[in-house]
Order: sequence, then structure tokens, then C-alpha cells
Amino acid sequence: MSRADVTARLGPIALRSPLVAASGTVGSVIEFAGVTDFSHYGAAVAKSVSDVPWQGREAPRVAPAGVGMLNGIGIQNPGVESWVETVVPGLRDIDVPVWGSVVGRSAEGFVTVAQSMEAAGVGVLEINLSCPNLDGHLFALDPAASTEVITAIREAVTVPIGAKLSPNAVDIVEVAAACRDAGADWVVLTNTVWGAAIDIESRSPVLSGVVGGYSGIPLKPIALRCVIEVHRAIPDLPILGVGGVVSGGDVIEYTLAGASAVGIGTVHFAEPRAARRILRETRRLLDRMGESRLSDLVGQGLGSWRAR
Ligand SMILES: Cc1cc2nc3c(=O)[nH]c(=O)nc-3n(C[C@H](O)[C@H](O)[C@H](O)COP(=O)(O)O)c2cc1C
Repeated sequence: MSRADVTARLGPIALRSPLVAASGTVGSVIEFAGVTDFSHYGAAVAKSVSDVPWQGREAPRVAPAGVGMLNGIGIQNPGVESWVETVVPGLRDIDVPVWGSVVGRSAEGFVTVAQSMEAAGVGVLEINLSCPNLDGHLFALDPAASTEVITAIREAVTVPIGAKLSPNAVDIVEVAAACRDAGADWVVLTNTVWGAAIDIESRSPVLSGVVGGYSGIPLKPIALRCVIEVHRAIPDLPILGVGGVVSGGDVIEYTLAGASAVGIGTVHFAEPRAARRILRETRRLLDRMGESRLSDLVGQGLGSWRAR
């Protein structure tokens, strides 16, 4: 039995495990508690919630694409008032810290959700900037729009906040720096990357929204590149690395790239109990590497890039 220490620290937050269940892939978290053992996770992020209910898109909203997954759900959710009433009470009985995920079309919308969640006792918030504003542009592509949202939330709540960014950003470092300067305690790198697929039989897009978010194994090199770039440019900004993690090797790789903790998402759809295996593999790999503590490896895989 490995004694390797896999605890993690993400800015102000201590995690018993480096694994964080990624938003939207474990439902509201409550229903998933009947499927998996949350003791293998450091935290679980609930599905994103907005100030008023969002209908989401028409079906089809998810589809396999290569070894990855396309989704175009449109962040369907019941709105924060209903979420606080129906979901929050059940979260208290779950054996994992549950973080809220805040989404909006405007800074005011984000603030309403963040304040309601904090008032309901949610202790940590992930701010999902990878969603469109009223003009249809993703906040996370624009440092100024990201600054506006994070500044407004930072002034409105005291709980720790992480900013979830998009791999579609032209300059992910600029957006991450803007979020850090506006008061984000860490960045989440990354949400899904834009993707699409066409069914050649029906000659029509597989998603009703045509373009959706692509996740799973093919996302890993893209999200990992974002982690490397941000860690190199802003080494003191904690990073939650997310994208295509399916094994202990992936956890080690993200850690070496500069991530302090690692999210797991799409793997849940094929293997709901994956966290236990991934954590066991991580410990075994640390033993094989002669390392006793995962956190010692943060950012240690960048070779000569580190020195620049
Ligand atoms: C079906 C599905 C729903 C998702 N819903 C959300 C969401 O509500 N909020 C959010 O921030 N990210 C959402 N995501 C993105 C994931 O949290 C994660 O960032 C992304 O899938 C990359 O990680 P993975 O490759 O391990 O899945 C969703 C992903 C999938 C596949």
C-alpha cells in the first residue's frame, strides 16, 4: 500500500485529494453520490447555475466524436433560487466539499448567483467565464470582460473564487492575469474547446446548436498547453488543470505542467467510479518515481522553459 501524500493546496483551499469532479459531469452532485464514492475526491463542482432559469438547447445535445465528446447543452439549469431550495439541502449529507458554479450573461447576473450561493452556505465558488454574454461573446475570450465579472464578484462575496477559462482564448495568459488581478484565488484551465461534427447520413450537424464544447482525451494536450503557459508566466497563480484526465499518469502530467489540483469530467460518463482507480494509479506512480508527495512536483516538468 502506497503511503504517498496526494493532498493538494489550491490557493486558500486544502484538498484531501487532488481530484476535483468537474462541473456538469456529476449532475447536481447529489444524484452522483449514489453512483460513486466521493471520498476519493478533494471536491466536487455542481453544474453551473444562473440567476434565472435557462432552458438549454434542443436535443441532440451530446454526441461522441472520435475518442472525445461533444456537448451543446446550453447550460440548462433551474436558476439560483430553485437551486438553493432544491439542491443545497441535500449537499450537506455528501462526503465531499461541494463547490458552486456561477454563470451569467452580465456581471450583475453573476453577482446575484454568487451572493445567493454564499448566503446559502456554499463555501467555494467556481466562476464559469466560458459562457456567452448578452452579445454572444464568451467572457473568457476577453480580459476586460473577465475583469469586470471577477471584480464585481470579488467585491460582493468573501468566499474563495476560481475563474474557469476557455482554451479558445487567443492569449490565455492575458485572461488569467486579468482574473488574478481582479481577485480570483485560482484559475481553472480549462473548459471545453469549441468543436463540431456532421452526420454524413443525414447530412446535418450532430448537435442542435451545430457548434458545441469538445471534451475528453483529445482535449488534454490543449488544456495542458494552457496550464504550462499560465504557470510559466504567473507561477504564483494556483491552477486547477482540467481536460481529458483518465489516468494517474495524466494527474502527474498536469502536476508537472504546473497544476496544483486536477479536474476529472468526461471520464465519468464511461467510468463513473474512475476517481478511485486514478488516485490509486497516481500513488503507485509517485512510488515508482521515488516521490513521497504529489505537491512537490507542481511545475517540475517544464525543463528549460522554467528558467525563462
Ligand atoms: C456534458 C458536459 C456538461 C458540462 N457542463 C459544464 C457546466 O455546467 N459548467 C462548467 O463550468 N463546465 C461544464 N463542463 C465542462 C467540464 O467541467 C470540463 O471543464 C470539460 O469537460 C473538460 O474536462 P474533461 O475533458 O475531463 O471532461 C461540461 C462538460 C460536459 C462534458
